[in-house]
Amino acid sequence: MKIIVGKSENSMNHYAKNCIIDVIKTNDQPVLGLATGSTPVGMYQALIQAYRQGEVSFKDVTTFNLDEYVNLASDDPNSYRYFMNDQLFNHIDIQLDHTFVPNGNTTDHQQACLDYEQEIDQHDHLDLQVLGIGTNGHIGFNEPGTSFESRTHVIELEPSTREANARFFASLDDVPTHAITMGIETIMESKAILLIARGADKKQAVKELVDGKRSPDFPASALKTHPRVTMLLDEAAASLLD
Ligand code: F6R
Repeated sequence: MKIIVGKSENSMNHYAKNCIIDVIKTNDQPVLGLATGSTPVGMYQALIQAYRQGEVSFKDVTTFNLDEYVNLASDDPNSYRYFMNDQLFNHIDIQLDHTFVPNGNTTDHQQACLDYEQEIDQHDHLDLQVLGIGTNGHIGFNEPGTSFESRTHVIELEPSTREANARFFASLDDVPTHAITMGIETIMESKAILLIARGADKKQAVKELVDGKRSPDFPASALKTHPRVTMLLDEAAASLLD
């Protein structure tokens, strides 16, 4: 795993933006895996700015998001579909029907998972998957204990994950209990991975990822055998590394 420690938030956003633009410019039909949460917001702003300055076009880009809450309408401001439209897609020239987010708002979630896998399959593979990391080591919403062979599936969110995400909701009770997430095997099939971590509350998880063993108890550790992982860290997230 390649580790890059950014000296400033700006330099991290700049680096991440350039990774994405590089994928877009070197592929005829680029396929990006994207994440929500606080971590990628600055990167999305940098991409919007690059688009406005004519540095990049997204018209041939397809995107697949990692996850979506179960039973939130797509126009609910807390849904990840809403987040992606609001934070990125509405501000660039991407074709919205080339942007995929798991469909959590359906009566048949198992079918939604199969449909998502099939859609990814039809695009062959992801060229680059952007990841954040949970303090418990989750990637996507693959909570500790998730099999490394998992494909897109429904998962019950851990109490710690619901608490961490409650900041976006009116109350903890409003945070959905379940989500659909790409599986770990699905993520591992991406040609390259960019994992971004910021802030001191991620330092333990980063340390465990770098120095710990590969085990489903710590889902991000699956990445240890991926041939092309870059970890982009701020100084606080990297502070426990040797
Ligand atoms: C988001 C996702 C999650 C987050 C993780 C970190 O789509 O899949 O794994 O990346 O929970 O969240 P933040 O960035 O809010 O700290």
